[in-house]
Amino acid sequence: MNFKLNKPELLPFKKEEKVIKQSPSNIALIKYWGKKGNQIPANPSLSFTLSKSYTETEIIYYPKKDKGISIEFLFEGEKNEQFEQKIIIYLEKIIEFFPFLNKLRLKINSKNSFPHSTGIASSASSMSALALCLCEIEKKHYGTLQNKEDFLQKASFIARLGSGSAARSVFPYAATWGEFVENPASADEYASPLLFELHPVFKNYRDAILIVSNKTKKVSSTAGHALMPKHPFAKARFKQAKNNLKLLLSALKTGNQDTFIEIVENEALTLHALMMSSNPGYILMEPGTLQIIEKIRQYRQKTGIKLCFTLDAGPNVHLLYSINDSDKVEKFIGKELSAYCENNLWIKDEIKANT
Ligand code: PMV
Repeated sequence: MNFKLNKPELLPFKKEEKVIKQSPSNIALIKYWGKKGNQIPANPSLSFTLSKSYTETEIIYYPKKDKGISIEFLFEGEKNEQFEQKIIIYLEKIIEFFPFLNKLRLKINSKNSFPHSTGIASSASSMSALALCLCEIEKKHYGTLQNKEDFLQKASFIARLGSGSAARSVFPYAATWGEFVENPASADEYASPLLFELHPVFKNYRDAILIVSNKTKKVSSTAGHALMPKHPFAKARFKQAKNNLKLLLSALKTGNQDTFIEIVENEALTLHALMMSSNPGYILMEPGTLQIIEKIRQYRQKTGIKLCFTLDAGPNVHLLYSINDSDKVEKFIGKELSAYCENNLWIKDEIKANT
């Protein structure tokens, strides 16, 4: 697909118009860590798309005479200069795909469904929501992107240029991103939905996000990715990710929760091991992170309930479990895990059903 919009003229409209889109956060099970060139991942990744943690972005736009990017950015109704600057740089980067950005004044208002300062990475939801809005403007005024698949593919491509993991957020329930031999449709430039239906055991899977710390991350993911090309374990890591992806896809298809647990926890710990062993090395887990991991493993051993953890590039723990075990697991969280969370805060999320 050619992502460049080759129709120069905007369909005529006088008054201001509005688009509004919601896009969720996602949690990687196979981690993207390391990139090359223009946001091309060093290895393929796979994530579950969440549903309760999302960004809602609204763009009010109207024609203007002078050329160039012109925006006003509000976060939750308030002007935010820092984000505004970031968005201007991003829009300049993608203007070749949306030439109309030269001709419009945009008023962007964005808000998150999750509380402020929870340490939840919001770049995936915010960049994908913005990308969806821009595609919607194109669709409305040029008559392109009418086909849903083309629409989502371009939105994923555009989101990726803002934040790699955002490419996966435009697809419901699960997505892969990055080339791998088992799925010729999976690409480096955009994410793709799974080729098969998730096994019923993984439908509506729960993700309890345990907020161990709400402080800003010690190291940005951009800085983290940049450490990978020189990492002594890079080659082995990229090979491992491909192999883990193959095993995980098979587990998602057949409903094998034991393999799921093994791979998902291995990926989380590998991500942190890579960070610890890079130069400079970073320790992003907190004591509470380790306490929670130990408790989860003990509980699994004791009860046979097939829950497991994964981690982002930070101290918070994502606890994954089946909807069928939700009553028991949520009691366990309240009794044993929430004490390790900042202000006892945890967020109950789940993946979107694929019906
Ligand atoms: O999209 P970025 O550049 O913020 O990187 C995300 C990296 C991880 O969250 C650690 C892994 C992933 O695949 O989402």
